Amino acid sequence: MRSVITGTGIGLPRHVVTNQDLARLMDTSDEWIRVRSGIQERRYAEPGQGSTDLGAIAARSAIADAGLTPADIDAVIFATMTPDHLLPGNGPLLQVALGLRDIPTFDIRQQCSGFLYGLEMADLLLQSGRYGRVLLVGAEAHTPFMPWHLAWDTLIGQSTREITEAERAENTLSRDRTVLFGDGAGAVVLEARDGAQGLGPIQLHTDGTGAGVLTMTGVSFKRRPFVTHAQIQAGETIPVMSGKEVFKAAVTLMPQAVREVCAMASLEVADLDLLLIHQANLRIIEGVQKALGLPAEKVPHNIERYGNTTAATLPILFHECRAQGLVRPGMKVVFTALGSGLHWGAALYRS
Ligand code: UT7
Repeated sequence: MRSVITGTGIGLPRHVVTNQDLARLMDTSDEWIRVRSGIQERRYAEPGQGSTDLGAIAARSAIADAGLTPADIDAVIFATMTPDHLLPGNGPLLQVALGLRDIPTFDIRQQCSGFLYGLEMADLLLQSGRYGRVLLVGAEAHTPFMPWHLAWDTLIGQSTREITEAERAENTLSRDRTVLFGDGAGAVVLEARDGAQGLGPIQLHTDGTGAGVLTMTGVSFKRRPFVTHAQIQAGETIPVMSGKEVFKAAVTLMPQAVREVCAMASLEVADLDLLLIHQANLRIIEGVQKALGLPAEKVPHNIERYGNTTAATLPILFHECRAQGLVRPGMKVVFTALGSGLHWGAALYRS
């Protein structure tokens, strides 16, 4: 019995925000963002639209794509680092939004590796025989941590108000991170099936000594109170990142993980048909591709259009590859990701 992806869907907010739009808010440029990250535009959620809303759009279409109805789903795994609330998680909210039965919902938080960890969990649930159909969702609404609280209307063309110099200076303080992120969701339905098609092997890793290189320190239940006005003012509710360290880890550890799953499956890396890499930076994607000696056409990317959507990048990319006919029966596809934790790994999928 193998775990087969029988349906995919995506949920993208309608506001397209270009690099030029962001340059109106802070000291940055289209050239800097394109050259350093490959990103040209990203989507921003409506004010009030959360990761559960985006995840529900993706989930509904994944369930329909699988030829199922919400009543057929036996368990949900929801991966996000930007939940609607600190508690409860998005799982029960998605259950209500979709009208799911009384089934278990699991909320997981492995950030950029959330979808990959979700694949492992879904596979284990299905292999246990206790669940027949698992819905896995990766969804993010990053925009609420961005500091331009007063500039949304200007950014989405609903106001002509110019940004003040003070706002511009404040926005510029976090430009190394904010320009990279976008909002969006992807979902897949996995079902247990007989045959050669399906997931595995999967290899996951965690190195908590790297927890500090990508973290959000401004909300902490080690402190009383757990968040203060001063911290919000100081921008401590925006993730902090040692960009270069994450970059180095990504271009080293993702190729290692891909080699590991290939070795576990007695495959050569060159035998892979598609390598789907977490979309954080085009330079990272190209670095991993070159480290593994794969041709560019086997490593599709969409970071140009969506930026980094954290737990949503892999399911959005997989959905688009299927829609474009890039995923054909009998192919060997590998998913790989690395992110805050540090968590990373790779998963082989025979389509
Ligand atoms: O999803 C998983 C987690 N995230 C990642 O995988 C991201 C990994 N890291 C990266 O992608 C890259 O390190 C970044 C894109 C974040 C940064 O690229 P970099 O080549 O490492 O640039 P840098 O941090 O060395 O910054 C170079 C310069 C700095 O100016 P000075 O100090 O050299 O004068 C920055 O202040 O670029 C400046 N800068 C900007 N300039 C214009 C930083 N952000 C911006 C910006 N616009 N948005």
